[in-house]
Amino acid sequence: MIKKVIPFVHNKLKETVTNEDYVIDGTCGNGYDTLFLSRIAKKVFAFDIQELAIKNTEERLRRNKVYNVKMIQDSHENVDKYIKDKEIKAALFNLGHLPGSDKRVVTKWPSTMKAIQKIKNNLVVNGIIALVVYVGKFGGEEESNELLSYVRSLSHEEYNVIKYSYFNKEKAPYVIIIKKNK
Ligand SMILES: C[S@@+](CC[C@H](N)C(=O)[O-])C[C@H]1O[C@@H](n2cnc3c(N)ncnc32)[C@H](O)[C@@H]1O
Repeated sequence: MIKKVIPFVHNKLKETVTNEDYVIDGTCGNGYDTLFLSRIAKKVFAFDIQELAIKNTEERLRRNKVYNVKMIQDSHENVDKYIKDKEIKAALFNLGHLPGSDKRVVTKWPSTMKAIQKIKNNLVVNGIIALVVYVGKFGGEEESNELLSYVRSLSHEEYNVIKYSYFNKEKAPYVIIIKKNK
């Protein structure tokens, strides 16, 4: 079966993460991904720059009686301010804007890249960084181009990079998985 991008990425995370692991949701938005991660991990660090996103995620977690998430209203590029001594098994970046909100408040490559670089340093061997990329959305194409050229430049000995996409559909969302090999 061909999975849509979110089920695909959730499945990859489920294969990777155990209930002993620390994980990051780099863009918590409305909290769907944070809730998913809270159910497979020991603890989730969930970031978003928007107050509304933090509130929406907190509300979702409260309704589901979830207590293993640390909510952080800050840019994910400052991840090292909040996570100092923990090894990270997985990080998820569902890029773009907060659904139902201002479409111009989007993730941008300079901060996404800083976050990826910092998380790579704390990632355990066999850990993954997963990104869902919306090429057709505001600012999406630019971020996508920069991301693709960055991941192409990673050493294949240190990292496996997988791209999952609808090859025959222009501007369809796609997934990048960066797996740390050593
Ligand atoms: C597509 S939404 C995330 C969807 C979310 N994972 C969910 O399950 O509902 C992207 C989110 O990224 C947030 N964002 C944009 N720039 C950010 C940054 N530099 N750091 C953290 N979050 C950011 C936006 O505010 C928005 O809520």
